[in-house]
Amino acid sequence: MLTKENNDLICRVGAGTPMGTAFRRFWLPALLSSELPAPDCDPRRVQLLGEDFVAFRDSDGEVGLLDEYCCHRSASLALGRVEQGGIRCIYHGWKFAVDGTVLETPNVADPAFKQRFKARAYPVREAGGLVWVYLGPAAQAPPFPRWPFFALSSSHLLPVYAVVNCNYVQVMEGLVDSSHLTVLHTAPLKTTGGSELDFAKKTAHMQFNAAARIEAEETEFGFHYVAMRPISDDPDAGVMARIAACVPPCFILNPNGDLFFALVPVSDTRTLFFHVWWDAEKKIGEEPLRSRQLEFVGLDQAALDAYGLSLATCDAPHAACRANNFLQDRPAQRRGHFTGLPSFTQEDAAVSMSAGPIRDRSKEILSVADVALPRLYRALMTCAKQAAEGRDPLGLHADTTNIVGVSGKLEPGAHWRTLAAQHKVIATAA
Ligand code: FES
Ligand SMILES: [Fe+2]
Repeated sequence: MLTKENNDLICRVGAGTPMGTAFRRFWLPALLSSELPAPDCDPRRVQLLGEDFVAFRDSDGEVGLLDEYCCHRSASLALGRVEQGGIRCIYHGWKFAVDGTVLETPNVADPAFKQRFKARAYPVREAGGLVWVYLGPAAQAPPFPRWPFFALSSSHLLPVYAVVNCNYVQVMEGLVDSSHLTVLHTAPLKTTGGSELDFAKKTAHMQFNAAARIEAEETEFGFHYVAMRPISDDPDAGVMARIAACVPPCFILNPNGDLFFALVPVSDTRTLFFHVWWDAEKKIGEEPLRSRQLEFVGLDQAALDAYGLSLATCDAPHAACRANNFLQDRPAQRRGHFTGLPSFTQEDAAVSMSAGPIRDRSKEILSVADVALPRLYRALMTCAKQAAEGRDPLGLHADTTNIVGVSGKLEPGAHWRTLAAQHKVIATAA
């Protein structure tokens, strides 16, 4: 449970807010590299933390992120032309390089004029199939993270995101809440038995026990938590421990060991829900594996568009929302489908959005199944307060090469923590 003040503290991310200040101290994924597919391709409008930007790939293939509104008289550079080393505003033709250098001002005769100022530009890096941006003070930029999947080529990566119309914290909560899997995802989990997909195999055992034992510990980087379940309905078969790692303000490593999440706020009430799967052996970034994986979890383009979970459709009249009861298919439910929603992604999005644009945490009743949530709240509050005090926020110095999500069978008497022995535990009490 959180007071309204503390709920606002962790949820509000606009400029000048404590959590907004924290987010602006991190490198954040903003879009997929594939959304800027070639040099001089069309620019893209990018909204992050309640602010508007434009992203473009110049003639050399470099990606730039500038304030969306032209520094001359505020026309949108998302309407601009990307050509010959920069982006040109279509209003008066001012042209900007990826670093904000003003290349041309054709409506001003004085050639020195353009040297007097720059457009506001932000540092950009590409890694893991994602375009990462840093929106904070230049002098405080942290080293670029080194998440494990950065080492793989695009054939072995599957990056994708859904756009969810609610605050980022309530999407994040679903990722540190193993107990909902066996209930909310009853229908898609049933289909995992015969599937050849690794994701399906890694989650198939969950259908045997809804009341997983959950524990959480504070770690140097944030926290990790475990869900422990019998491996099958045979009581002697042992226990499977699934450990997720959470790095504030928005990064999670899934227990499957090959799946990274980032929950990046577009605004206080809209979230980019990034997933990156990686596989050093299989070419999951290529067909047919790519489409099979995305379709299985409801993240293929057609499924995202149909539900209003893409940037192109999240404001469309048909997008899932309260007014259309989140597109729940009641006849399908009566025929036996548990939720009446298409797959994992739509089920997660529906319950997250159904709690309201920003969930009221003063009214919740948490149980032993929810022990990771107070950990999450505390980690986010710490992160926000530290940033507001001008200190480096929790998570900023996380050793991203050494954090894992992991699953494994627990030997009798073994502590689950041994599966993630590299995580430095700070506190074990709830
Ligand atoms: S508003 Fe962009 S060049 Fe004038
Ligand atoms: Fe879920």
